[in-house]
Amino acid sequence: MALMTKSDCKVCHSVNQKMVGPAFLDIAKRYKNDRSALSKLTGKVINGGAGAWGQIPMTPHPQLSKKDAAEMVRYILSLKK
Ligand code: HEC
Repeated sequence: MALMTKSDCKVCHSVNQKMVGPAFLDIAKRYKNDRSALSKLTGKVINGGAGAWGQIPMTPHPQLSKKDAAEMVRYILSLKK
């Protein structure tokens, strides 16, 4: 996904392996039935934070527009249908 390649997501995430952050597939599985996941996770990507998967925080990405962050989250959630 071009947006994510341009950003730093891949430093901490891969599609199917836990690295610093959880695997995107695991994220997709966890939020599969959560209708508020898109807005919730978009906010989390922009603002950063910890506690959902462990104590390691995700860095904030305030330079991302809401639209770009939402597009990334939509891609992540689409990995598991
Ligand atoms: C410095 C490492 C790092 C970078 C860079 C990073 N992440 Fe994360 N990410 C994490 C960690 C650690 C967590 C788990 C946070 C937690 O436990 O709440 C996480 C969690 C997530 C979650 C799930 C949040 C939740 O509340 O369940 C999403 C979605 C996500 N990252 C997307 C992204 C995207 C998109 C990018 C690129 C713009 C990105 N991450 C960049 C480390 C990172």
